[in-house]
Amino acid sequence: MTQTPEWWRTAVIYQIYPRSFRDLSGDGYGDLPGVIDRLDYLRDLGVDAVWLSPFYRSPMADAGYDVADYRAVDPMFGETADAHRLIEEAHARGLKVIFDLVPNHTSDEHAWFQAALAAKPGSPERDRYMFRDGKGADGELPPNNWTSVFGGPAWTRLTGADGTPEQWYLHLFDVKQPDLNWDSPVVRSEFEDILRHWLDAGVDGFRIDVAHGLVKAEGLPDVDHDTLMLSSDSGPQWDQDGVHEIYRSWHRVLADYDGDRALVAEAWVHSDRLPLYVRRDEMHQAFNFDFLTCPWDADAYRDVITSSLEANDAVGAPTTWVLSNHDVLRHRSRLGREDTGNRFGIGPDDEQPDHELGLARATAATLMMLALPGSAYVYQGEELGLPDHTTLPHEYRQDPTWERSDHEQVGRDGCRVPLPWTADAPGLGFSPTGETWLPQPESYRDLAADQQVDDPDSVWSLYHAALAERRARGLGAGSLEWIEGYGDGVVAFRNGDVVCIANISGPEIHLPDDASVLLCTGPRDGVLTANRTVWLAQQ
Ligand code: GLC
Repeated sequence: MTQTPEWWRTAVIYQIYPRSFRDLSGDGYGDLPGVIDRLDYLRDLGVDAVWLSPFYRSPMADAGYDVADYRAVDPMFGETADAHRLIEEAHARGLKVIFDLVPNHTSDEHAWFQAALAAKPGSPERDRYMFRDGKGADGELPPNNWTSVFGGPAWTRLTGADGTPEQWYLHLFDVKQPDLNWDSPVVRSEFEDILRHWLDAGVDGFRIDVAHGLVKAEGLPDVDHDTLMLSSDSGPQWDQDGVHEIYRSWHRVLADYDGDRALVAEAWVHSDRLPLYVRRDEMHQAFNFDFLTCPWDADAYRDVITSSLEANDAVGAPTTWVLSNHDVLRHRSRLGREDTGNRFGIGPDDEQPDHELGLARATAATLMMLALPGSAYVYQGEELGLPDHTTLPHEYRQDPTWERSDHEQVGRDGCRVPLPWTADAPGLGFSPTGETWLPQPESYRDLAADQQVDDPDSVWSLYHAALAERRARGLGAGSLEWIEGYGDGVVAFRNGDVVCIANISGPEIHLPDDASVLLCTGPRDGVLTANRTVWLAQQ
């Protein structure tokens, strides 16, 4: 099978959440030297690329998705030179590198927002953000009824130096994440410059945070119902047609560079709107959240796989597959609960997952995912079979969602717990001092990397073997052909010379005696019970 020259069409991309990956400084927060220290581990695992969540200078109101300086590394993560060294070291191991770009908002501690606060209403400094006068006789009411994704109102009112109330500013996320004004040419040219800055440093692509949020509907109309960013329910804050011109201009910026640089959209939009983001002159791929949120149901998987492939094929984009990331309940935990399509984090007061069932389904889902054509994402720790920390005591919570939702949503800390590297070391080897910014659950000890890499029956070894077969057999560049006849509850397809059978919820399947099993979850006994997947080599 011929590989296409564009690496991102078929790549398996490993998401690193730097504060929880590996800490070398000993402060309990992961850092870029820690990432560099484990690049060999990632090369050995067999991924093609890494995507790093933000490590830029930030007051960390949203774990770094509140950026104060887009060109500097936060001291928590090391020095700016470490980002450059990371690119070089990754390239030296044949790994591509994707950075995270956060263009919808900055931190309130960004120099631009500080200047806007010091400037007057109507000034060029204020024009870079979404400042508005309030409604009501004295402007005491917010300009509209939008709410923040993290809970509470999306507007905060300023107070002047003399204590008088002033204009309001928009923040679709935390109060410390003011939204930028993408009608401003100054904002547009600054972000093109930031792209060039890191492209010059050799980065291979960018994951674009909240890609569907940058442009708001003209006049900022009220919403007539509650809209959640992380649902397909859109409103005047999201998915406006005006965003596409921005991505066309960024496409042109990337096209000036060699080496197939790529843009990846984080856009929580209706599936029929997602292809618009990956048209030939826009971004290169978009996360497939319909796959991530698909419940444990064979018909639902078949539908989402079919519609995703059709939609992306129509615009010539690769389909991506993803099961976990830093914003959702890890798939081992999600698939072990009653409501398998519910991605929201859970706490000690919620129904707890069945961890063994979750693990069986998680590995079965992963093996199904890695047999699909296109590009796939792996979130750090899923190769160890990590669950969420679903009983994290509330006092440790740092995700702003917890406070802003009045403790209704526990938020995303449970999927962000520091990785276990060494079972018998303090802090499970995350940090040389044993410090970890969130406590690790007891179950992480047996799942530590050092317990798994040499064990042929471990989850790590399953990922390793699947990635190697996927690469050797060119599955990323292949195409899918459904296989019928296995009955209800089963997803079966052929990709190249591999037949993948995922028994989601059907009766047990007896594999033919001469079946050549390449890989499987659960025992290799010729029987495929529910919650298991097998890859067979085509005879
Ligand atoms: C994206 C990020 C999330 C962050 C939000 C605001 O959804 O993945 O972690 O909180 O954007 O930047």
